[in-house]
Amino acid sequence: MIIIKNKLAIDKMRHAGHILAQILEDIRPYVIAGASTYDLDAIIEARMLAQELTAPCKGYGTYKFATCISLNDGVVHGVPSKEIILKSGDFVKIDVVGAYKSYCADLTRYYFVGEASLTARRIASVAQLALDSAIDIIKPGIKLSDISSLVQQIVEKEGFGVVRDFAGHGIGQHFHEEPSIPNYGKPGRGPTVCEGMAFAIEPMITEKSFDVRIMSDGWTAKTVDGGLAAHVEDTVVVTKTGVEILTRLA
Ligand code: MF3
Ligand code: CO
Repeated sequence: MIIIKNKLAIDKMRHAGHILAQILEDIRPYVIAGASTYDLDAIIEARMLAQELTAPCKGYGTYKFATCISLNDGVVHGVPSKEIILKSGDFVKIDVVGAYKSYCADLTRYYFVGEASLTARRIASVAQLALDSAIDIIKPGIKLSDISSLVQQIVEKEGFGVVRDFAGHGIGQHFHEEPSIPNYGKPGRGPTVCEGMAFAIEPMITEKSFDVRIMSDGWTAKTVDGGLAAHVEDTVVVTKTGVEILTRLA
């Protein structure tokens, strides 16, 4: 069942989303060579708590952190660690869920440590273009898979792959709600998008093969072939005529 959000719910999700967007912007000066992903997670979590956001990822199954921080060939769910120290050239993706009065927002931003390779810059901008273009078409009356199909078309046209093993999702009082929103598929299928639906749209794309594997920590997902992966994400709510992005600053 896809839960329709009322104004009060959306207000809380927007509040969470704006705080998180600001935190992931303000963290940029800390994403530098020598920083550990553990430190970045700790700074982000402290800022969330200071602004009355909870971190639902912490305590989600065996997961113990507020954020997921994935580097280079890491696709999603990178587990923060004191042993993972950023170095020049790293392509970093920080994914965080925050909840205000139990309503969630979920977003992912990317960062380059020092000089990034041309490929890292290109794959990041293609992921961003896919996300922006997908958000652009969302309005009442489209079919859910129109979003999936558009992401796949844009990404594959640029020669990159779309990950099959993870998908975007509905979001609200739980950070994973129905529907699942894959980043590939044929258009014109699935439920009709309606006002009040809230989605986390999150293209996860790869330089080469889209095959991923989970590392021995049980979470960190990396490309099998070691190619780079990009991931961007925003939480949106469907309005009467279009969509509002809840995780971007005005
Ligand atoms: N933002 C992630 C997603 O949409 C959720 C993190 S998974 C967790 O899949 F295990 F870290 F909680
Ligand atoms: Co998500």
